[in-house]
Amino acid sequence: MRIMLVKDETIEIIKETFPGEPEQMVDYMINFNELMMKYNSAIREIKTKLEILNNELSLGDNNNPIESIQSRVKKPISIANKLKKMGKPMNLDTIVENLNDIAGIRVICSFIDDIYRISDMISKQDDIIVVEIRDYIKNPKPNGYRSYHMIVEVPVFFSDCKQMMRVEIQIRTVAMNFWASLEHCLKYKSNIKNEEEIVNELKICADTIANTDIKMLEIKKKINAFD
Ligand code: GTP
Ligand code: MG
Repeated sequence: MRIMLVKDETIEIIKETFPGEPEQMVDYMINFNELMMKYNSAIREIKTKLEILNNELSLGDNNNPIESIQSRVKKPISIANKLKKMGKPMNLDTIVENLNDIAGIRVICSFIDDIYRISDMISKQDDIIVVEIRDYIKNPKPNGYRSYHMIVEVPVFFSDCKQMMRVEIQIRTVAMNFWASLEHCLKYKSNIKNEEEIVNELKICADTIANTDIKMLEIKKKINAFD
């Protein structure tokens, strides 16, 4: 017997996709859960790679280049909303073809050079295909957002096949993450009166944080020059 836990909001989306077709609906739910399980497996593959790199690099003079790793599979409601915005119908093909961030991993590093070292090592692994790189550290967004984004494909081995699964990896420093978390809160407020002022303040903070990240790296290098 297959037990499925599906939220009401998900059922609403599925009803929209298959009005009045219960069998199709159940089929869709089973296949959707299977697809999400595959993305979750891809997250585990990439996480293991990152943990191995972190362990190895920590043996040298570079104490834990990775501070922490967060991950998530995109929620059905967010998948539906994003596809809707793109003007695409919600089905398994449109999800796989149009969305690169169903599987998302956020890697928090101590220093900027760790970000480039980790991304370079992941890119060079011969089972990984790098689909896209967006370097918002070298090219910050106008609001001050900084982070290194990679879309990669990783092979995942299942009972009867191997599948390349897409994963979005965001790599940033502790400071960049601190900033992004607060800035993200802005998106959920529609009634802020002095939004422009807050946006300006956040931009100033982003630049201060960026300078501090650079300065901290310089200090680390000076310290590491001594044994
Ligand atoms: P999405 O449609 O949001 O996925 O954007 P995109 O496909 O154009 O990709 P992009 O690389 O710009 O952003 C992907 C993800 O990075 C977002 O889903 C956020 O998690 C994060 N991100 C991008 N820009 C910002 C920003 O200005 N502020 C914050 N807090 N996060 C951001
Ligand atoms: Mg995206």
